[in-house]
Amino acid sequence: MPTPLARTLLPGLILILTLPPVAAQERAAERVEALLAEMTLEEKVGQMTQVTLTAVAAEGDHPRGGVLLDPVRLREAVVERGVGSILNVLGASLSLDGWHELLGEIQRLATSETRLGIPVIYGIDFMHGANYTREGTIFPHNLGLAAAFDRDLVRRAARITSEEAIASGLPWNFSPVGDVGRIPLWPRYYETFGEDPFLAAEMTRAAVEGMEADGRVASTLKHYLAYSGSDVGRDRTPANLTERQVREEYLPPFRAGIEAGARAVMLNSGEIDGEPVHASRYWVTDVLRDELGFKGVVVTDWMDVIFLHTRHRVAPTMKDAVRMAVEAGIDMSMTPYDYAFADLLAELVREGTIPESRVDASVRRILTMKVTTGLLDAPTPDPAARALFAAEASRETARQAARATITLLQNDGVLPLRRGARVFVGGPAAESLTALNGGWTYVWQGTDAFEFPDGVPSLLDAIRSRAAQTTFVPGATFSEPLDIEAAARAAAGADVAVLAVGEDAYAEWVGDIRDLTLPEAQLSLIEAVQATGTPTVLVLVQGRPRTIHRVADRAAAIVMAYTPGMEGAEAIADVLYGEHNPSGRLPFTYPRHPNALDTYDHRYTQTLDTGFDRGRGGFDPQFAFGHGLSYTTFAYRDLLLDRQQVGPGDQVRVHVTVTNTGDRAGADAVLLFTRQHYASLTPPVRRLLGFRKVHLQPGESETITFSVPVRRLAFIGRDGQPRLERGDFDVMVGDLTDTLRVTP
Ligand code: GLC
Repeated sequence: MPTPLARTLLPGLILILTLPPVAAQERAAERVEALLAEMTLEEKVGQMTQVTLTAVAAEGDHPRGGVLLDPVRLREAVVERGVGSILNVLGASLSLDGWHELLGEIQRLATSETRLGIPVIYGIDFMHGANYTREGTIFPHNLGLAAAFDRDLVRRAARITSEEAIASGLPWNFSPVGDVGRIPLWPRYYETFGEDPFLAAEMTRAAVEGMEADGRVASTLKHYLAYSGSDVGRDRTPANLTERQVREEYLPPFRAGIEAGARAVMLNSGEIDGEPVHASRYWVTDVLRDELGFKGVVVTDWMDVIFLHTRHRVAPTMKDAVRMAVEAGIDMSMTPYDYAFADLLAELVREGTIPESRVDASVRRILTMKVTTGLLDAPTPDPAARALFAAEASRETARQAARATITLLQNDGVLPLRRGARVFVGGPAAESLTALNGGWTYVWQGTDAFEFPDGVPSLLDAIRSRAAQTTFVPGATFSEPLDIEAAARAAAGADVAVLAVGEDAYAEWVGDIRDLTLPEAQLSLIEAVQATGTPTVLVLVQGRPRTIHRVADRAAAIVMAYTPGMEGAEAIADVLYGEHNPSGRLPFTYPRHPNALDTYDHRYTQTLDTGFDRGRGGFDPQFAFGHGLSYTTFAYRDLLLDRQQVGPGDQVRVHVTVTNTGDRAGADAVLLFTRQHYASLTPPVRRLLGFRKVHLQPGESETITFSVPVRRLAFIGRDGQPRLERGDFDVMVGDLTDTLRVTP
């Protein structure tokens, strides 16, 4: 006996497949309205509820790569409560079979034992590839991808991630992160595309384009808004920012992601200027929906409705919390363990506090996401899509991505290493696969090495496979000294020492720190090895720029590896041995001191020195935003603007010729900056206006053109709106500068 949904499905399936886009949207809307019209209030508030897998899983042990469900709790969630979504893994990643069995069980219940047969939409955090499906393709995290300054690379990585989500049967990905990394202490810094709003916006756009390309996976912009703007740099702490700052520094990636078609937004668990975002009608409805035109699903973050009552303390009761969050504009509550949200929302509707039409609006958006991902027509994983999973070509893309992120920060000529050189390897990241991959890898914290597939090389393995002779003494863990003297003795006998230092994996608040300095044990190890006189190469494997000023000047070379992913060890070794010419550039300012956290787009007053003499030494980073060396050299010439005077509605074309003046092929990220001479609010000393990656053979030149809408020169004024002021602007590429005059 076909369920009502089946009656609704079949015509839709046939029709949708043959309709042009607009008609398909109309048909989708008709299907949604038809379903909505049949729903009870309980069914509606059920759709607005999202529970985590733990809430429906059996107690006790589970098969490796699989999950045992608790039939009673699963029935309660899916049949009795009719939850709209389930999310997450239990603790560790599932195999493809594990996902297919789990989803098959959930959807069988949802489509055959509920009145309307609406499938559950399963949400997952594929943050850097298919990190919750065993053997999936794992990419560098966003901070490293940003260092490649290559939109197409980000798009391709996102597309592969999306394909492997489809193969796993997962239609909703809680990615990409659109947060801007303005505070390097922040534990989720590696999830950002760096400190520049424009760079982050362009990469967020590319990620959404890649993720949404197939249509079967809904992307999620997170965490709206200014989650990364906390004053003290710890997770989920207040961001005391003005609205102007929020709009200038944190909003651009969300605007770009919405323009690119993201179908969901996840909210920031924190607060902006004293207002929890989950309770902010202004940010969630007036700005996100009315101003930015977002029409998709707004999902809360973990327990964040409850936290309005228990943490933020703006809701005296749980019922107040539910009311405030729904009135602010949320569509789905990641409760994620219970059904109080649904019960209280139904109560609020019945008592007339919240109109049922408000609930309908949310359910409409949730059902639309289920229709447009194809979930209503194909609730269970498509076995044929397994062919998309972990393809060799995808793994090669991950290796290209890892190589492209590696950023050579300093090199006295010790790199590339000679294969015949006797190499000493030390440091806590030398053998660590978890450090290379960072958080959100097989397990939430990424710290479970047991979960990694066999045969994945560590950096030590990758060096051993290249060096004539390798000795290894760790010398320190990430936090504690081991036998530093033994490490120094071993280093003394080598031609070169490679120390892999930085951080092990972490996610969210677990990664909170109170000092950006590289831990003492690691600094001591580095100093002991440097004291032997053996040239020392520092490889920084870390999710944020831990300060190293005590040892940086004496390092023969410094390589920033970020968290390069499963192919990271080979990629780093490819650079160390010159098999790949590094082209990464820092997407953030690398601080010299733990309390000198100025970003590159600082104000002039931040350049003034400390102490009596106010010289220009105030802004003195270890390495500047955009810094990155190559094994070849590039020269810029003929910076030309197609016009020196422009009006607000114009485009300006900036031409520059790049030449590879060295003796080996290489890639260069050409960065275009601007500087407003005077403005009604203090102008930043520089702002990124454009970037382009060029690949050049020795002696080859290429003239590139940036087409920049003049409105991009606007800043956010006191009124929170873009403000373009007339006057002179420098336009800069490398050491070249030209002047542009904006007239009214
Ligand atoms: C976490 C994170 C968020 C993630 C969600 C579901 O708390 O803040 O990024 O998508 O919960 O795992």
